[in-house]
Amino acid sequence: MSSSQKPKFIKIYVMGRAYEVPEGLTIMKALEYAGFRLIRGVGCRGGFCGACPTVYRLPGDYKLRIGLACQTIVQDGMHLVILPFVPMEKPRYNIDELKPDAGLILSLFPEVSRCVSCNTCTKACPQGLDVMDAVQAILRGDIAKAANTIFDCISCGICSMRCPAEIRHIHLFQLIRRLYGKYILPKAKHVEERLKEIESGKYEEELNKLMVTPIEKLKKLYSERKIET
Ligand code: FES
Repeated sequence: MSSSQKPKFIKIYVMGRAYEVPEGLTIMKALEYAGFRLIRGVGCRGGFCGACPTVYRLPGDYKLRIGLACQTIVQDGMHLVILPFVPMEKPRYNIDELKPDAGLILSLFPEVSRCVSCNTCTKACPQGLDVMDAVQAILRGDIAKAANTIFDCISCGICSMRCPAEIRHIHLFQLIRRLYGKYILPKAKHVEERLKEIESGKYEEELNKLMVTPIEKLKKLYSERKIET
């Protein structure tokens, strides 16, 4: 490699210890370059699973910043710590016994009524979602609006880490999606029909055949399958 192709190295600090890493890496790749074997706080590596929230500071800036380790590029002088998970209590409920209304949601998540509309959650969201709008929609009982607003939530928990009202967004939004799917969205007729077909044993013979098909043949069948467009 010629000297012009050599990567430029920058210094990052992980839990206060300095490491030289090539510039341009994500935090996750930089950690691995520095010798960390990531077991917790890593999942899809593509910004979808929400497993890698990381807290960092930049030189000369007191602000605590938060981002996904697999998506955030390291910067010279960055101090960081990766958080393996965001602890928050999950309420227990039976979705069949619930109703999609604000009162019920508040009985499970009373902290939602403490929202001060500071918008910190929205600013913190690595997905760029209007988290505060969703919380406000929940307070108004507009479950459909809330569910659509947080459709791309990856449950990283960063909004909750920053929320002064200590709202448990991950679990709250999971409930919203469940209520929306069960009580508000129209039923998917074709799925119901397919379920009936499966229960009636229509695919039993074909499935049994697949179970004893050699792996190479299965791969060929898979790659040649008809895809709906
Ligand atoms: S590893 Fe899945 S979002 Fe970062």
